[in-house]
Parts: sequence; C-alpha cells; structure tokens
Amino acid sequence: MEKITLNNGVEMPLLGFGAFQITDLTLAEQVVEDAIRLGYRLIDTASSYGNEEAIGQAIKNSEVDRADIFVTTKLWVSDTGYEATKRAILTSLKKLQLDYLYLYLIHQPYGDVYGSWRAMEEAYQAGTIRAIGVSNFTADRVLDLELYNKVCPAIDQIEVNPWTQQKDDVPFLQERNIQPEAWAPFAEGKQQIFTNSLIAEIGQKYHKTVGQVILRWLLQRKIVVIPKSVHHDRIVENSQVFDFELTQAEMAQIKTLDENKSQFFDHRDPAAVQNIHDLVRNVD
Ligand SMILES: NC(=O)c1ccc[n+]([C@@H]2O[C@H](COP(=O)([O-])OP(=O)(O)OC[C@H]3O[C@@H](n4cnc5c(N)ncnc54)[C@H](OP(=O)(O)O)[C@@H]3O)[C@@H](O)[C@H]2O)c1
Repeated sequence: MEKITLNNGVEMPLLGFGAFQITDLTLAEQVVEDAIRLGYRLIDTASSYGNEEAIGQAIKNSEVDRADIFVTTKLWVSDTGYEATKRAILTSLKKLQLDYLYLYLIHQPYGDVYGSWRAMEEAYQAGTIRAIGVSNFTADRVLDLELYNKVCPAIDQIEVNPWTQQKDDVPFLQERNIQPEAWAPFAEGKQQIFTNSLIAEIGQKYHKTVGQVILRWLLQRKIVVIPKSVHHDRIVENSQVFDFELTQAEMAQIKTLDENKSQFFDHRDPAAVQNIHDLVRNVD
C-alpha cells in the first residue's frame, strides 16, 4: 500500500479498511483479519462502532507485525472533556489490546473538544498516540483548533464522495498540511452510485469498476480513503486501485457530479447538533 507522510513525520497508508456498521463481532474480526491478509495496513474504527475488541483480536490473530498496522480509533461525544478523554483513550487501548494507537480522532465537533484536545496532546507527547486529529470539523473549526493549541491536527476525516467533493475544505486542509481523509467514499451506496453511467464509462477504459474509479479519483486528489465492505471479493476489489491512473480530463468529468452538500447531514445544522446530543443522552 502506498503511504503519505503526516505533518508530524508519521507515515500513513493512503488506503485503508473502514469498520463502521460492522456490529456482528465475529464478522468484524473475520473481515478485518481478511483485510490484513489481503494487504490492508490501515484499519479505521471508533469507540461508537462497538467493534474495537473484535478488531484488536483480528490484529492479534494476524501474522503481521502490530507496528505495521496503522490503527485509528475515535473519541465519542459523550467522552469529550479533559478527564473523560484520558479515560476513553485507555479504554480504547485496552479493547484494541494495544499499547499505542497510530491515530486518535475527535469524532464529532461537539462538546468540550478543547479539553479533549489537551488530553490528546498529552497522550501524543507521551507516545501513547502517534498522531492526533479530528473528524467532521469544517475548515473554520479546524483552524480554530490549530491556532489556539500546541499541536496542529494531523488529519481531518470528512465525508468525500462524487456527490460531496469538499471542493473548498480539501484544498484548505492540504494548504495547511492537515491530511484530508475520506469517509463514505461510496456515499454508502446512495444515488445508485455503483451503477453511475459516467463513472462506469471511465472505468471501462481501464477494466475497473465504478468503486475502483472512485477510490482512484480520491487517491489522485491525495485524500486518504477507507472504504468499508464485509464481502471478500469487494475487499479485494477495493484494494486494486494502484495500477491505473485517471487523466486530468476524467478527473474533470467526475468533478461535474458534485452536489456540494452532504449525503447524510450537515454538521453545522442545529438540528444535527441537537440530534447527536439527544442520541448521546439517551445512550448514556
Ligand atoms: N468519521 C465519521 O463520522 C465517519 C462516518 C462514516 C464512516 N466513517 C468511516 O469511513 C468508512 C467508510 O464509510 P462507510 O462505511 O460509511 O461507507 P462507504 O465505504 O461509502 O460504503 C460502504 C457500502 O458500500 C458497499 N461496498 C463497498 N465496496 C463495494 C464495492 N466494491 N462494490 C459494491 N458495493 C460496495 C458496502 O457493502 P458491503 O459491506 O455489503 O460489501 C457498504 O454497503 C467507515 O467504515 C468508517 O470507518 C467515518
């Protein structure tokens, strides 16, 4: 797998495996083991996905050196704040059976993220986390965090797919040397993405599927990407994206698909802030 170097010198694979919505723990362990066997070296999870233990077990079962597997997990909203974040980091480490994390992200831009960031900076300085970053932060929130803290975020993990191209935030992050990472690269299959005619036509030229063209388009924009699948054939397919290159004209064609809005929800929408708050309160 090709790698990029983060703003603190840590190397990160450009393509990884996303583990969202794999709540059957036996399946989670099995597919992550499969992904590692197939060459994936970046695994993305979160405390809220409820599968950290299964992923930890899959890493333990694999014959690959733990140091070669870049594990990301995320801090949920209910754990924001300095003390709660310190506890959450230890809990995730324990569940993953790891003594350090490659990457730890603040999952949502809500709650006491400043307190969280201070705890994350400490864990970073102590070497318990190799890189710290955020997720779902818009450009203004990332800049605010960067300007008023010691450690600049290494990553912002945001929704990026053909309908939601983040044409402003991706270059903004890249100019500030904060690595963009794409979640829902396939928009979770919305808008019949896997049969999109424009992308399918581009793929025919290279004997590649729609999914592979989308992943290639993201990689050529220098965006880290973490597609999720529980099917062996698709996990293989999603990894075979380093043997062709889209032309500038094809990149421009895909650009025309942009709707410039989320396929899920806008993190700045007050209704979204309220929904996540209510969800957290009901779960706690
Ligand atoms: N930070 C955040 O707030 C956030 C939010 C969402 C996601 N994420 C991360 O980003 C990762 C990816 O996003 P996502 O899981 O939401 O969605 P996604 O990767 O855009 O789409 C996953 C869907 O596409 C299907 N699929 C995957 N590869 C395929 C292929 N080659 N052909 C046809 N169908 C295919 C999967 O089905 P099968 O599984 O049935 O194969 C699944 O239904 C997550 O797993 C998670 O790690 C982060």
